Amino acid sequence: MPSLNDIRTTFLDYFGSNDHAVVDSSPLVPRNDPTLMFTNAGMVQFKNVFTGLETRDYTRATTSQKCVRAGGKHNDLDNVGYTARHHTFFEMLGNFSFGDYFKEDAIPFAWDLITKEFGINKDRLLVTVYHTDNEAAEIWKKHAGLPDDRIIRIPTNDNFWMMGPTGPCGPCTEIFYDHGDHIWGGPPGSPEEDGDRFIEIWNLVFMQFEQFEDGTRDPLPKPSIDTGMGLERIAALLQGSHDNYDTDLFKALIEASAHATSVDPYGDRNVHHRVIADHLRSTSFLIADGVMPSNEGRGYVLRRIMRRAMRHAHLLGAADPLMHRLVPALVGQMGQAYPELGRAQALIEETLLLEETRFRQTLDRGLKLLDEELAQLPEAAALPGKTAFKLYDTYGFPLDLTQDALREKGREVETDGFDAAMEAQKAKARAAWSGSGEAADASVWFDIQEAHGTTEFLGYDTEVAEGQVLALVVDGAQVDAIAAGSEGWVVLNQTPFYAESGGQVGDSGSYLTTEDSGSIADTQKMGGGVFAHKVTCGKTGLKKGDVLELRVDHARRSDIRANHSATHLLHEALRQTLGEHVAQRGSLNAPDRLRFDFSHSAALTLDQLAQVEADVNAYIRQNSRVETRIMTPDDARALGAQALFGEKYGDEVRVVSMGQQANSGKGVQGQTYSLELCGGTHVRQTGDIGVFVTLGDSASSSGVRRIEALTGAAAFAYLSQQDNRLAETALSLKAQPGDVPERVRALLEERKSLQNEVAQLRRELAMAGGASGAAGPQAEDVNGVRFLGQSLSGVSGKDLPALIDEHKARMGSGAIVLIADAGGKAAVAAGVTADMTDRISAVDLVRAAVEALGGKGGGGRPDMAQGGGKDPAQAEAALAAARAVIGG
Ligand code: ALA
Repeated sequence: MPSLNDIRTTFLDYFGSNDHAVVDSSPLVPRNDPTLMFTNAGMVQFKNVFTGLETRDYTRATTSQKCVRAGGKHNDLDNVGYTARHHTFFEMLGNFSFGDYFKEDAIPFAWDLITKEFGINKDRLLVTVYHTDNEAAEIWKKHAGLPDDRIIRIPTNDNFWMMGPTGPCGPCTEIFYDHGDHIWGGPPGSPEEDGDRFIEIWNLVFMQFEQFEDGTRDPLPKPSIDTGMGLERIAALLQGSHDNYDTDLFKALIEASAHATSVDPYGDRNVHHRVIADHLRSTSFLIADGVMPSNEGRGYVLRRIMRRAMRHAHLLGAADPLMHRLVPALVGQMGQAYPELGRAQALIEETLLLEETRFRQTLDRGLKLLDEELAQLPEAAALPGKTAFKLYDTYGFPLDLTQDALREKGREVETDGFDAAMEAQKAKARAAWSGSGEAADASVWFDIQEAHGTTEFLGYDTEVAEGQVLALVVDGAQVDAIAAGSEGWVVLNQTPFYAESGGQVGDSGSYLTTEDSGSIADTQKMGGGVFAHKVTCGKTGLKKGDVLELRVDHARRSDIRANHSATHLLHEALRQTLGEHVAQRGSLNAPDRLRFDFSHSAALTLDQLAQVEADVNAYIRQNSRVETRIMTPDDARALGAQALFGEKYGDEVRVVSMGQQANSGKGVQGQTYSLELCGGTHVRQTGDIGVFVTLGDSASSSGVRRIEALTGAAAFAYLSQQDNRLAETALSLKAQPGDVPERVRALLEERKSLQNEVAQLRRELAMAGGASGAAGPQAEDVNGVRFLGQSLSGVSGKDLPALIDEHKARMGSGAIVLIADAGGKAAVAAGVTADMTDRISAVDLVRAAVEALGGKGGGGRPDMAQGGGKDPAQAEAALAAARAVIGG
């Protein structure tokens, strides 16, 4: 009996050997269709190839596509577990022709595969065609030899396939398998068609049109083929069952669940195991594709599925969290076909454990409340909406979980009441923020948030994605359109653009529409979690509802990522070098540089700075994977994650870790080196940072130091510029670069001794009468005091005190005033010998001289004072003023 993995391989090999490119499944979060919540068919990734917008280097392809049908248009969640064929996650096998072959090949390909390769009995097969499609009916007749009564013409949309209200579409033909008359049901088109006897196994779509919003259709550039066969369904058939949960893969998961709970896998509680097995697949694959549980959008669909499974685990009597323990069984079954599952195994397990641990804290109390409420209601009455809302709001019960719990009791929820309670809560939240004094210009963003929810950020996993325009803002007010060439802010339902926060600057880039393009200069996070893109429109302008292909500037984002990751390494290196008191006080992660402010009171020594720089570069070279996990802020702190001081965190935080502690440094060897709460975008491997170089440290504010640094190409350019400067210096010194420091030290020493020598010579020259070479200065008698006044050139103010001392020694008794012409300014010094200080003060002499020189003040002691003036030409007048002081 072929296993599910064998069947997938057979399918892909069959089309591979018929010249089809075997293409990987695309992620569950579609990059190219903003209106789809999850990828729900094999053709989703090829949508634009069908319409001719995109070309690939193949015209035939085959895939096994991961699909989720929960939330959004196709929602199978409510039925899962209770039926034989509903799943939240399934694999769709498909073959595709992009203008290559058409019906005449697609039908034979399908027929030969199922009858020859899979060996399905022809007599059990019948097909449907669109009622006007004679061509397809003829091919079936000719190639498969099917009689007319097994080619059923269907006039309804059942045989005209559309991916949604818009997009590629066309008539289809479906292949059915007859399980035999022991099972109730009738052929397609009959009143009993919903029975289990005739099961559709494969849908072949003849893609011919593109449908637009107004309902009109254009022909596709070329007729094409899109097919879809549910792997679980065909596996059940080939394994002799009509129940998908009886296949080898599901049995393995159900048995893992049975083993972990000690509850019979096939007894009367089998439904719980089935729900768990199905939900384990969807939740694990969603997490592997970057979806994280949250209270909105895709994250909330994930949370709903998780919690539904967790209630069923609880019903099985699981005393502890169960789901995460089943992940190894899933990876064992599907990890080879989908390597992303193995890569994300730790993240999946942790996320499931966290969610289940938290949910179990309220689950019991919520179920108790539910039972009490039900006991008070008349038999079979619906549960009041406000009770369901209380379960949602206080106990974390998604509405469908409450509905699922009631289903077993044959009761329902009064959903109108639930919706009304939800509306009332929103109104209360609105009143709270409008009364909170938020600036009037912030209210526009809260309005947008209220109408459309927060923006879904796809940029952790991709830099290119489509988004749909939800709102446009120009000059602080919402508008319906932004004119061609004009600027404005655009809000989309989802975006790969990072909005500025946590020190990381907002992304810039461009957008494309089918006929135009424009630029995005910045992205900001506005009130209520709305991402606003600052656009300059192209030649057609933008309006609400437009679908944009958003392209982040890759080079710029890569530089920002490198700087942000380097900041984390820098933070840890500082903690290990300077001590545990180092905490982040602010940061900037821009494309061209990074800046990190941290608590530390003293300047870093050169050795400390060098140590920090060397550590960061060592962890860059370690080239370890950068891992992101989601946990509660408390768990993150318990693990030792660095949080931002004073920051408010939500229920769940992203924790970014990088590097393994080497055997140097203060950390424990082998442990995670850097662990931080962070919502930013990071490199995949630390080696992507390239190189890290600091530009030095400075004081930012009291007790806070700032380090600025460069990474990657900017760091390299900086180092290379420094190297050039060194080479230039070496050239001027006629030395080798390595000898430059020694040569510069020697030059400085030489300069110092030359300076001393010059000063000495100057003093000697001045004592000998100055640069003019005249005879030495003569003392005169002023009012009975020996006075020596002299104006000097070629000496500086600094030299004057030594000269005064020398004159005092030579004169024995008297007063001296020296004025030096110091480069356009005048310096004055006065000296009075000790025997004269009771009659004359050097301070008075200086002050008088300074005034005459156009200056102010001057000071010192009675025996020695100094000052300065602006006008050296007044030296004679200044000496006269000093004489006048002595003269009384
Ligand atoms: N796109 C087609 C389907 O999903 C094949 O059924």
